[in-house]
Amino acid sequence: MKDIKIESILTVYEDYNELPEDIVSLMDTASKARLKAYAPYSKFLVGAAILLDNGEVISGNNQENASYPSGLCAERTAIYYAGAEYPDAKIVRMALTAGSQKQPTTAPIPPCGACRQAISEYEVKQDSPIEIYFMGTSGKVVKSHSLANLLPLGFDRSFL
Ligand code: THU
Repeated sequence: MKDIKIESILTVYEDYNELPEDIVSLMDTASKARLKAYAPYSKFLVGAAILLDNGEVISGNNQENASYPSGLCAERTAIYYAGAEYPDAKIVRMALTAGSQKQPTTAPIPPCGACRQAISEYEVKQDSPIEIYFMGTSGKVVKSHSLANLLPLGFDRSFL
């Protein structure tokens, strides 16, 4: 037997203002989407913005439901719309921002496990990495060069 080490490499920006201009713009779109989230139960608002290789930008936010599991995260709201509207486009990157209405959210908020699985499907489908940038409402911004980097030992079509 042997141990296997799996590493993830992340880039941490100390502040949103350190980001390249085009990423700031995508994050601004995610922030605008966050402010329109429908999150009356958790009071935790999440916004996502996706840049496609055809230049289109898609945004989405979390949509909650009185039947809690029927709600959907911002990332999946956005990525499923992108997949539905532009099935042949590749996703270049995603910007994510999340904030609680109950307290300040300064920690970078990563996509949940279910969203990582959903994003992974598109990364595998397009056979090129999807960059992910995530933050709270202020503070550090984290960049992952791919989704796979955030989901070690991912389950994908190759196992089927
Ligand atoms: N949420 C997202 O939109 N994305 C995530 O990756 C994590 C969680 C939403 C779901 C729910 O509406 C609220 O945040 C609290 O979990």
